[in-house]
Amino acid sequence: MACGIAIALLASGATRAQAAPRGLGSVPHAADIAALDIAIGPRGDELPPGAGSVAEGAAIYAGRCAACHGANGHEGPDMKLVGGQGTLASAAPVLTIGSYWPYATTLFDYIRRAMPFTAPGSLEADDVYALTAFLLHANGIVAADTVLDRARLPTVRMPNRDGFVPDPRPDVP
Ligand code: HEC
Repeated sequence: MACGIAIALLASGATRAQAAPRGLGSVPHAADIAALDIAIGPRGDELPPGAGSVAEGAAIYAGRCAACHGANGHEGPDMKLVGGQGTLASAAPVLTIGSYWPYATTLFDYIRRAMPFTAPGSLEADDVYALTAFLLHANGIVAADTVLDRARLPTVRMPNRDGFVPDPRPDVP
């Protein structure tokens, strides 16, 4: 009898261990890694399938972004996304997608992982392509009839592409 109880406890213990949430020190499953492995580099090799137009992006922006970034992307209250070109060398630089960001592909990556601020990760790839197209158009970088996808987005050249230089300071030990 005592032996039977011990086996029963062992068995239930094993079941609990399998069902337990994976925590510090446990090996992540491939699916867990894939869900987090969404980084997109400057060349855009990792961009997912999908497509979106400026017009589609305008509608999504109005519903999900304008409350924080303004109707046209430069009114706030949160970060300005539009404008500021030509101000970087001035006493009051305005850092936006159009004035500052060196790669268009970064915009897709950022919006997909971080926006909308209160629901990051809730946008589909088509929505993110559309929002990217809309914000690039609002900054005067692509035409109003632009449709972006994984082939077209990496070809967009940003105004500040050559504004970044290597840091000449020696590495801090
Ligand atoms: C609830 C408010 C809120 C909403 C809604 C929101 N954002 Fe933001 N957004 C922010 C804040 C706050 C930041 C700055 C975050 C930080 O610096 O960590 C930001 C930053 C950004 C940036 C980076 C700007 C830069 O130059 O660094 C982009 C791009 C952006 N948002 C796009 C969007 C898009 C697209 C949407 C709609 C899908 C959206 N945001 C919805 C609050 C919001």
